[in-house]
Amino acid sequence: MKPVKLGLLGVGTVGASTAMVLKNNAAEIARRAGRKIEIIQASRRSVAAGMPAGSGDISLVEDPFEVVNNPEIDIVIELIGGYDLALELVMRAIDNGKHVVTANKALIALHGNQIFAAAQQNGVNVVFEAAVAGGIPIIKSIREGLSANHIQSVAGIINGTGNFILTEMRDKGRDFNDVLREAQDLGYAEADPTFDVEGIDAAHKLCILGSIAFGIPLQFDAVYTEGISDVSTEDVVYANQLGYRIKHLGVARRTEAGIEMRVHPTLIPEKRLIANVDGVMNAVLVQADRLGPSLYYGAGAGADPTASAVIADIIDVARTITTDAQNRVPHLAFQPDQIVDIPILPITEIQTAYYLRLRVDDRPGVLAEITRVMGDKKISIEAVLQKEPESGVTQATIIMLTQKIREHQMVDAIDEIKQLEAVHGDVHRIRVETLDGD
Ligand code: HSE
Repeated sequence: MKPVKLGLLGVGTVGASTAMVLKNNAAEIARRAGRKIEIIQASRRSVAAGMPAGSGDISLVEDPFEVVNNPEIDIVIELIGGYDLALELVMRAIDNGKHVVTANKALIALHGNQIFAAAQQNGVNVVFEAAVAGGIPIIKSIREGLSANHIQSVAGIINGTGNFILTEMRDKGRDFNDVLREAQDLGYAEADPTFDVEGIDAAHKLCILGSIAFGIPLQFDAVYTEGISDVSTEDVVYANQLGYRIKHLGVARRTEAGIEMRVHPTLIPEKRLIANVDGVMNAVLVQADRLGPSLYYGAGAGADPTASAVIADIIDVARTITTDAQNRVPHLAFQPDQIVDIPILPITEIQTAYYLRLRVDDRPGVLAEITRVMGDKKISIEAVLQKEPESGVTQATIIMLTQKIREHQMVDAIDEIKQLEAVHGDVHRIRVETLDGD
């Protein structure tokens, strides 16, 4: 069979690794794909930087449009990242009848609906396994492996940098910025690290997971997004004492009222496997009605793990290149005419439990005042922990865990608690997920 010819856009960390793995594992890949797969052209900003030594006979150009317009190329591999140029290149590739493999989560989360519509029209595939959780085949697992199921929820640690920072803070008491710098040096962090720290990267990935889990259009703007920059070492320590770990979690959950899509720091009981996913590793817990819970764990970032997912997508496309375009695996897991607009709930309507930390006067009756407000708002308290005041100090720290309630109840209660004379400063709040399949 004729070899499949690839054009590579971007020879950064992942691009270079993709070229090397395709070359080094060429025989094994051909055994799987049923044909040879080779990169014939690549683009990078500076041709002078060259291709990695030993990556084979690849023509290198500076203009990426040369690659997407090259009539020899069957599949374009987009690894330049970002929005505008990547979108223009991918749309041009599709117009030119080329299949596209991308690791660009921002591109898919923001422009995926437009891209898939164009791909459908042109009879080409656009695949994006590497966009979510690096090397873990989570897209394929949900889209194909779980296709018999009604998916109830997806909850994931899907940003390696954030998980690395939280782990180092907990285990070594290290400073936030110091750990972030290390993640950048290790090549895990996004070009703009606020994407990792403020939860945007995780929100891109959750938007994609939610879409393929529930068969809804990609709606990045509807994902509630909170990062980890406000998580203090104090909260990490108290959470531990209560038997929880703080993780930056993306949650997509189907409820009767609509779909919850949210990314935020979350307390998880330490006995859950996912609570023990540390460092740069990622994990995704899927609740499906027939299979029940299943957990997918692995490297969520890094050159070779991401290249592993990129190449698996290339092999998939190579296998289906000659099949009828209407009978391929649909881009968003459900047939295009079966994508439905289930509403995504505003954050005020989501239901979850809460961890609260507050500083109060250390005198009789204060706890009663606080619990009265909670009672008025119909919030049930699960646990209370009062830290002994440091000597000579007249204020104490109180930690509370609530039962599951609607977010707006908690917001109202916090507003009222903050007005109490005995309460000082902010009421720190972190959501809690038991992840027990309810
Ligand atoms: N910055 C991302 C992370 C890279 O830390 O998970 C992989 O998407």
